[in-house]
Amino acid sequence: MNVAMEYLHLFYLSVFAVLGIMHSVQSAEKDPESIPTDKLLVLTVATQETDGFLRFMQTAQYLNYTVKVLGMGDEWKGGDVGKSIGGGQKVQLLKEAMQNFADQEDLVVMSVDSYDVIFAGGPEELLKKFQQANHKVLFAAEGLIWPDKRLADKYPSVRSGKRYLNSGGIIGYAPYINQIVQQWNLQENDDDQLFYTKIYLDPLQRERLNLTLDHKCQIFQNLNGAIDEVLLKFGTDRVRARNTVYDTLPVVIHGNANTKMYLNYLANYIPNAWNFERGCGICDNNLFDFSKVKEYPSVMVGVFIEQSTPFMPEFLSRLLTLDYPKDKLSVFIHNNEVYHEKHIQRFWEQNKNVFKSFKVVGPEENLSQGEARNMGMDLCRKDGNCDYYFSIDADVVLTNSQTLKLLIEQNRKIIGPLVSRHGKLWSNFWGALSLDGYYARSEDYIDIVQGKRVGVWNIPYMAHIYLIKGKALRNELKERNIFILEKLDPDMALCKNARELTIQREKESPSPETFHMLRPPKGVFMYITNRHEFGRLISTANYNTSHFNNDLWQIFENPVDWKEKYIHPNYTRIFTENLTEQPCPDVFWFPIFSEKACDEIVEEMENFGVWSGGKYKDKRISGGYENVPTDDIHMSQINYEKEWLHFIREFISPVTLKVFSGYYTKAYAVLNFVVKYNPNRQAFLRPHHDSSTFTINIALNHKGIDFQGGGCRFHRYNCSLESPRKGWSFMHPGRLTHLHEGLPTTNGTRYIAVSFIDP
Ligand SMILES: *[C@@H]1O[C@H](CO)[C@@H](O)[C@H](O)[C@H]1NC(C)=O
Ligand SMILES: *[C@@H]1O[C@H](CO)[C@@H](O)[C@H](O)[C@H]1NC(C)=O
Ligand SMILES: *[C@@H]1O[C@H](CO)[C@@H](O)[C@H](O)[C@H]1NC(C)=O
Ligand SMILES: *[C@@H]1O[C@H](CO)[C@@H](O)[C@H](O)[C@H]1NC(C)=O
Ligand SMILES: *[C@@H]1O[C@H](CO)[C@@H](O)[C@H](O)[C@H]1NC(C)=O
Ligand SMILES: *[C@@H]1O[C@H](CO)[C@@H](O)[C@H](O)[C@H]1NC(C)=O
Ligand SMILES: *[C@@H]1O[C@H](CO)[C@@H](O)[C@H](O)[C@H]1NC(C)=O
Ligand SMILES: *[C@@H]1O[C@H](CO)[C@@H](O)[C@H](O)[C@H]1NC(C)=O
Repeated sequence: MNVAMEYLHLFYLSVFAVLGIMHSVQSAEKDPESIPTDKLLVLTVATQETDGFLRFMQTAQYLNYTVKVLGMGDEWKGGDVGKSIGGGQKVQLLKEAMQNFADQEDLVVMSVDSYDVIFAGGPEELLKKFQQANHKVLFAAEGLIWPDKRLADKYPSVRSGKRYLNSGGIIGYAPYINQIVQQWNLQENDDDQLFYTKIYLDPLQRERLNLTLDHKCQIFQNLNGAIDEVLLKFGTDRVRARNTVYDTLPVVIHGNANTKMYLNYLANYIPNAWNFERGCGICDNNLFDFSKVKEYPSVMVGVFIEQSTPFMPEFLSRLLTLDYPKDKLSVFIHNNEVYHEKHIQRFWEQNKNVFKSFKVVGPEENLSQGEARNMGMDLCRKDGNCDYYFSIDADVVLTNSQTLKLLIEQNRKIIGPLVSRHGKLWSNFWGALSLDGYYARSEDYIDIVQGKRVGVWNIPYMAHIYLIKGKALRNELKERNIFILEKLDPDMALCKNARELTIQREKESPSPETFHMLRPPKGVFMYITNRHEFGRLISTANYNTSHFNNDLWQIFENPVDWKEKYIHPNYTRIFTENLTEQPCPDVFWFPIFSEKACDEIVEEMENFGVWSGGKYKDKRISGGYENVPTDDIHMSQINYEKEWLHFIREFISPVTLKVFSGYYTKAYAVLNFVVKYNPNRQAFLRPHHDSSTFTINIALNHKGIDFQGGGCRFHRYNCSLESPRKGWSFMHPGRLTHLHEGLPTTNGTRYIAVSFIDP
């Protein structure tokens, strides 16, 4: 008998296998049975319009779901995360709502969470899959059992698929759902999942109410315990999540337990947030429109100088270039470094009346970084007129003057502009977190940093520069001590607080299981935008502040900023427009240094002050004797040799290659020095050759303003160059052809920087 049954069963299966194709064709023809989408109603319980809720609604709207929200504005009584189980309020609200639909036999109701849920597929697909499941009621399933592990044995076993019920998703015919929820008579902080579980585990009810679980995530994908199974699947129109274990495309994605970050990552794409063909599909939703407001929003700008930082004067003056009405900007500066007091003082003296207000808290206050950041943020929080708090650290080089406007326009509670180290993957955000809360690389991190994926990204961590709505500071983020948490860095504390607002106040840290989809997470989404180029981060590492002008030494650590500050603004035109002159045969003349570079080098030398006095005996050079001595200081004497040679390689070599075509120099130079000509000391230099293949000679100050006379005469050509230009360099052959002399400086002091290259 048994054998016969077995045989029959096998036969049945194989017939189906053979007829499989035909079967699917037939079922397509039998479409009249499919449920029309107007017979679907989505119910969700939400007591607050959290960022997660708004995201849920946006995906629902895009996919044309009809959603009824229960409980909005109600006080949440459904239990406390980390202390007890809860969620009963959800069932209570559903029970009340379902009474209205008790006898609508053809109505399909889906009840889902919303704070941590998004839709990936549309109503038609959902209904089709529901019909294929062939049950009256279908619950979401997951691989982890909760809240009562002892019930595990009572679950029907499954050959493949998720075994345990999750109450975050239920779909079924209205009368059946109603029959389930009408059984609820518990307290609002009792557990909803336990309630549904007990009904499901009762064999009689399971049969009578025709209940099953969505074991293979056809409809509901819970991410808890399943992160490794779920990947993005990009399509031309829409992005889906694919369950790679069951090869399904779930319709509802639920970031239950502590998988919210992964949901945030998926939701950066699903369903229409971003794809490869069209880029960002939601970036222009709900923008703030400056043209519709009478006045610009008021912004508190918090500036944080927490360590000695290169290019501080440039940083401060960049605040003035922000394209925003300055009377709408209040500035708060925390400076933790005595070294920078002079920079701030100078900036303040020149600009004290520019901004609406200007407040500096200096190193004497001895504030920790967390305390200082709390203080700045609190200035906005406490001022009811403060619309935005814009926090910027001194290591951010904000090159886009529109940044503040662009961020406000994006209209998010927290948003930062992407900035990264020049040419590096080091940026101001993390795409994912490791288990212990530190950096982990998300699959899309590199593409976002390099601008290969452009959009507005929900991310778990950002620092250095961000904009926060004042309203959010007075609501969700009203906790005053937000930058101080455990032993975390202040920015990590801020981000953790923003992500998990309700959790941090619990005394004991709850186990992951107790994070289960209970109380509404108030977490505020943090976004980073790379829709525009905003600027970069500079490196504060190895910043030696024991020189007089310390930025001169930054050529290795921050080459872009060094070039911007010290290289002549017209330097590149040497190559693009042949901006070189030839005042004498084979003497080329071109712009190289900015005014700043000239001034700072002179200052540096005068600060060092040990001029050689133009003596023949010179211990600094090999042989100890100089034939044609100048009154000078060698670069090596101020520890600037390495940097100077690098400067020659980077900026002089290309010019050499151009004007002496074919000559490539590795910039080997032992004699690099600054010469000082002064009528009272040494005013001129007698004719001589240089011990070099070629020589550069850079004028470091202005003829007519700083000195009179000066210049250079080349004897062989009877050719003089009498009006040197500050920041411009000569370049001429050193030996044989270019015998030359330094013409007398008749008044004031003339400085030049000289290198004998390739001796
Ligand atoms: C939603 O409905 C509108 C209007 O019927 C339609 O144009 C649109 O394509 C639908 N959206 C989706 C994603 O199906
Ligand atoms: C559940 O209901 C479907 C019809 O919706 C029926 O075909 C199926 O046999 C039922 N299953 C059980 C276990 O009662
Ligand atoms: C500054 O604060 C630190 C830590 O709060 C403390 O150890 C130190 O003594 C303080 N220094 C001064 C000068 O008050
Ligand atoms: C900083 O510069 C000074 C002066 O050149 C030098 O003596 C010192 O070694 C430098 N410090 C470091 C850490 O490089
Ligand atoms: C750069 O060149 C332009 C055009 O010749 C000139 O107007 C400008 O003054 C130059 N800049 C500097 C700093 O010399
Ligand atoms: C570039 O300028 C130099 C100096 O004025 C001149 O000698 C040279 O012929 C120019 N080269 C070109 C390609 O115009
Ligand atoms: C050199 O040039 C000057 C004018 O520029 C001229 O007076 C003088 O005679 C020239 N000397 C020689 C040796 O050619
Ligand atoms: C020399 O320079 C000083 C200022 O640097 C100026 O006052 C004086 O008039 C100059 N003398 C001559 C002869 O140009």
